[in-house]
Amino acid sequence: MTHETKLAKAEKAILNRAATLRDRWYPAYHIAARAGWINDPNGLCFYKGRYHAYFQHHPYSSEWGPMHWGHVSSEDLVTWRHEPIALAPTLEEECNGCWSGSAVVGDDGRLYFFYTGHRHAIDFDHPETRREVQCAAVSDDGVHWEKLGVVVPGDKPRGNFRDPKVWRQGNVWCMVVGQQSSEPRGQVALYTSRDLRTWQCEGVIYEWPTSEVRMIECPDLFCLGGRWVLCFSAMGMRPKGYVGRNYNNAGYLVGDWSLGKPFVPTTDFTPCDWGHNFYAPQSFETPDGRRIQFGWMSPFQFEAPEKADGWCGQFTLPRELTLGDDDRVRVRPAKEVMEWTRSHGSTSAQMLETSLNSGAGSPTIPSSDVRAASPHSSNAVTCSCPAFVCPIALAPNTEHTLASDLTCGLIELVFDLITSDAERMGVEVHHTSDGNRLFVGYDAQTGCVVVDRRNTIRGNRGYRAVPVNTRDGRIRLQVWLDRGCVEVYVNDGEAAMSELSYPGDGPRSVVLTSESGTTHVCELAMHRLA
Ligand code: FRU
Repeated sequence: MTHETKLAKAEKAILNRAATLRDRWYPAYHIAARAGWINDPNGLCFYKGRYHAYFQHHPYSSEWGPMHWGHVSSEDLVTWRHEPIALAPTLEEECNGCWSGSAVVGDDGRLYFFYTGHRHAIDFDHPETRREVQCAAVSDDGVHWEKLGVVVPGDKPRGNFRDPKVWRQGNVWCMVVGQQSSEPRGQVALYTSRDLRTWQCEGVIYEWPTSEVRMIECPDLFCLGGRWVLCFSAMGMRPKGYVGRNYNNAGYLVGDWSLGKPFVPTTDFTPCDWGHNFYAPQSFETPDGRRIQFGWMSPFQFEAPEKADGWCGQFTLPRELTLGDDDRVRVRPAKEVMEWTRSHGSTSAQMLETSLNSGAGSPTIPSSDVRAASPHSSNAVTCSCPAFVCPIALAPNTEHTLASDLTCGLIELVFDLITSDAERMGVEVHHTSDGNRLFVGYDAQTGCVVVDRRNTIRGNRGYRAVPVNTRDGRIRLQVWLDRGCVEVYVNDGEAAMSELSYPGDGPRSVVLTSESGTTHVCELAMHRLA
């Protein structure tokens, strides 16, 4: 079957599935496929005036399967439109999937994809026959792709050798690839090229120090604030305290690197995100030099109830990364998203619009009923809830409903820790009449911001925690609610937490709570997004 025929078939399958998709948890403003399964962000770039985000995509079911590359594009990082599926597996070397990879604009002005061609083992008894190689494709519009075949077969045949991330370093093209040593240990290999076609192996630039991490996926090496950041997804890590608690874990090391030398970390492995659902992030540089990262909200091996609704998988918001003086990466929603939320939230909520190209509909998102938000004034609460005048004092063991029905929105809260003596203070979101609620707040005993799913009804339970800095006596939380997820940003960049969340039917309320002590909220703003 030709590539065109296979793409047309996949497109048809997606349109059929999209027509029956159930949208109770389908995102209103996070990127997701029209239907079917997605995982990693791929090929993030800015090309010919638009941002492009591709993703690992299985159009034929809500389960992971032979990978295609799905595609959305945007002018402003806020409003995304669906594009036709970009890649389908057709070549022998990619017969079991076009796996993850990246995009760069070549010297000839064309857009290049580098991705992994994956073949399963020929039979179960011979796992060594599994093969991964790096392939390329080229496009003049980001929509139609011509395959160039295998460009990096590897220094020896490998079963775990994937996720090429390409960038320009001076006048050399560099590619990092995740691989597995024979021990096995996770490694990052480097390849270089002058023309994007012929690649030379420069060897391993980083190896996990023990056999605990057996494979490194989705490596991403970039300069931030004058240092080098090596970000990757580690398979096999065991939990230590609050770190490494997910099935696989995405994190970063800060260190020193230059061409011809290994990457030498000067920090410990730090999670990119401290929630339950974050994996395989990828970053790119915007035309004005900012580093933007998207992650996949991975359900890992747990039940993902949205599969029954005809889809599975979504991205985080685009996140702007900077480096703090302490060599910790700061993570905030991209400034375009913040500006849009604060200024346009009242006019349109449909951040994922229908594709003009595919003619396909994303599920209809109800138009907004936002009141204009004024986040700069500390006592403005803009929502269909009573106006509160801050500071708010919440008595011990009491609750206060902030919004009776907020499905999609942003809640910005600042707690005053000097005057508060509650053991836990925070908000319960996605609170539905069946008793479902997700807690997001500050735990004064452990000094952590926590997301606690113990009172949720669908999906996996448990909690996640991130130790935070409370030196200025305040905790600042941004809680982004979408239909089926919650993203939390802590202390203006200190940490992020991503959670899948499955509220019940009916209105979804937001409730402020104060456990075993008084809580003082010194700033509160809410913005309705859909
Ligand atoms: C990470 C990953 C990548 C691979 C892709 C396959 O989630 O396993 O290493 O390329 O997903 O879908």
